[in-house]
Amino acid sequence: MTVYFDNNATTPLKDGVKKAMAEALEVYGNPSSVHACGREARLLQDMARRNVAAMFGVRSEQVIFTSSGTEANNLVLRGYFACPENLEKGSKLVISSVEHNCVHKTAVDLNRLNGVSMHMVTVDRNGIIDLDDLKLTLEKGNVGLVSIMHGNNETGVIQPLDKIVALCKEYGVRVHTDAVQTAGKVALSFKDMGVDFMTVSFHKLGGPKGIGAVIMKADIDMECHTSGGSQERNRRAGTENIIGIAGAGACTEEWQVSVDKMQNQIGPLRNKLEKGLKQLSNELYIIGESTNRVPNTTNVIVPGLEGETAVMSLDMAGFCVSTGSACSSGRVEPSRVILAHGIPADEALCALRISLGWQTTEAEVDAFLAAFGEMLGRMQKAS
Ligand SMILES: Cc1ncc(COP(=O)(O)O)c(C=O)c1O
Repeated sequence: MTVYFDNNATTPLKDGVKKAMAEALEVYGNPSSVHACGREARLLQDMARRNVAAMFGVRSEQVIFTSSGTEANNLVLRGYFACPENLEKGSKLVISSVEHNCVHKTAVDLNRLNGVSMHMVTVDRNGIIDLDDLKLTLEKGNVGLVSIMHGNNETGVIQPLDKIVALCKEYGVRVHTDAVQTAGKVALSFKDMGVDFMTVSFHKLGGPKGIGAVIMKADIDMECHTSGGSQERNRRAGTENIIGIAGAGACTEEWQVSVDKMQNQIGPLRNKLEKGLKQLSNELYIIGESTNRVPNTTNVIVPGLEGETAVMSLDMAGFCVSTGSACSSGRVEPSRVILAHGIPADEALCALRISLGWQTTEAEVDAFLAAFGEMLGRMQKAS
């Protein structure tokens, strides 16, 4: 028996997605070709784009398909600052200290290669960004773009995007948000959020890997970061991944059902899990427990129990969970994101992420709690 509690890493394909992708395997035309085979592929792509657009309440032309969430984030940040008109308005990129590496490292690259300066807004112990720091940075001027994620992949903490957007609008600065971990889990209306760009990745919501999208206001100047054809309205060159796009269209089809299930069934299961875990250990604490979080995610720390050890022990018991730690030069390093919360390094090494999925059952949560209790028992005996 394998219980999969690593749904923030990726999710199993929904049945409808498998079907749509299997059908798309027969469509071999290039959507840029004008003949019948090309038109067939174009039709498939248009249908999928309409589904994705409907999920986020935008028009089809506001959806740019990319090869991943990683590429979508790169495209927005690199593409935005590659435009001389945008650079003139401001050459500073503001991000938060808890961004995914694909935003964090892109910001570092932009600084190194293109002279775009970077300011990193800090977060408090709960993972919420310091709005005063953001305001002060905007006040100082020269900010070209603010890129702050919606929900965090390691902790599930959701940023107060409404306040962030309101502040940025006050200073006339554009906002990008990485919504990879919230799309499909909480209702997202691009218009109501008020952002200018948003990133999504379909393998986090029952779709295939290797397909993401930028959702953007149609009238913003942004350079294409790949040189080549005029695909995706000149925003992203390269022949489109029609099979992946068909999967993306299918996984967004019943998005309201997914969001409702996440809120009404999976959220309560996550809460039950957290309650049970706290009963097993007095020392255990949950990062961002008192804040608004994505309903499927919990990140717990049991001081003294290293995340890597827990992952291996739980794996042997049939449970897939993860840490945010990275192995570098043979040593396990604590997650940059967990450290950013002000959690000391020895405790940050103990962070364990458990992310439930739409397929999660109560029996799985109960079985996990039993396995976790046994692991803690073994640990106590060994000490
Ligand atoms: C918050 C966040 N942004 C971006 C990404 C990258 O998405 P992809 O795996 O599609 O490259 C991830 C993936 O884990 C993520 O969690």
